[in-house]
Amino acid sequence: MTTKRIALVGAGTMGSHHARVIAQSADADLAVLVDPRESVGRAVADRFGASWAPELPDLAEIDGVVVAAATEAHYPLAMQVLSQDTPLLIEKPVADDLLRTEEILALADAKDLPFMCGLLERYNPAVMTARELMAEPLHVTATRHSPYAQRIRTGVAWDLLVHDVDLAIGIIGSAPTGVESRLGHFHPDSLADAEDVAETILDFPGGAIAHVSASRVGQRKIRQLSIYERERLIEVDLLRRDVTVYRHVSENSVDEGRGYRQQTVIEIPELVSSQEPLTTQFVRFLDVIDGRVDAAAERASFLPAHRVIDQVIARRPVLQA
Ligand SMILES: NC(=O)c1ccc[n+]([C@@H]2O[C@H](COP(=O)([O-])OP(=O)(O)OC[C@H]3O[C@@H](n4cnc5c(N)ncnc54)[C@H](O)[C@@H]3O)[C@@H](O)[C@H]2O)c1
Repeated sequence: MTTKRIALVGAGTMGSHHARVIAQSADADLAVLVDPRESVGRAVADRFGASWAPELPDLAEIDGVVVAAATEAHYPLAMQVLSQDTPLLIEKPVADDLLRTEEILALADAKDLPFMCGLLERYNPAVMTARELMAEPLHVTATRHSPYAQRIRTGVAWDLLVHDVDLAIGIIGSAPTGVESRLGHFHPDSLADAEDVAETILDFPGGAIAHVSASRVGQRKIRQLSIYERERLIEVDLLRRDVTVYRHVSENSVDEGRGYRQQTVIEIPELVSSQEPLTTQFVRFLDVIDGRVDAAAERASFLPAHRVIDQVIARRPVLQA
């Protein structure tokens, strides 16, 4: 594999992590870091031996672009990158609106370009382990609650819920046929059309269901995923990155019926990977660029979760002019 010259757009929280991962890769070279904020952009570029640019340069010499700019900037950046026939890994969500997401994906499809969206939890070692263990998932629940973060202006549906909707779709193995949701607007600093809580129920063909909950009015970070099968429960803590498998054996009452005793087999499996998710995702991006992963299937995998989020936010209140 030849060393890929990568341009990174965005030097904020996620951009700094991407810069480190790209710079550490033996198969890639962080050629340029783009960010309109010179002091921030230059500092990250210098740290990882890249040059800085205030806007996207000509991409003739670039093999792939990673976009980690603010979500509001994704659409024009993605269109510029794809128009120059350059492979793209863009942070999640692809865009802050379904129409723009579809437009970006349509351009990538029309040009048959390698394209990935940073739905990073796919590469969480605990999630990868649970997915290898599971056989017939019937019911999925996911909770993604966080304390308030002032810098995130989009609502929790595009920012948080999209991760777990994507996981639920991947676990059940098909796009949902039904989406039910309720949105909560609570924080005085949130924009009027940016929800703080999203509760969502998904129905899948064959009868499987998922309940996905996202909130930014929590007091602690919770990242929990449970996969229920008929004879087994697989619990994943995405933050601690661990997996616990439960199999119920028996139950009976104790203390003359006032107490309860249960016998359960608990299994703690070995994780299938110990690699940082961002690294696993970037390695996959290089694999898509080099044709080791089916680029068309990869592109198509990102749309279902974005379609669900579009349905979820259709419940937002209509704002008066
Ligand atoms: N995959 C994940 O788990 C995950 C986690 C957090 C954030 N994100 C996503 O990453 C993206 C960035 O989030 P963040 O938390 O790093 O934000 P941030 O505010 O820390 O950084 C955004 C950076 O983008 C830069 N920027 C803005 N417009 C730009 C443009 N037109 N061209 C180049 N740079 C531009 C800003 O100057 C800033 O440095 C968002 O899309 C967010 O949804 C993903």
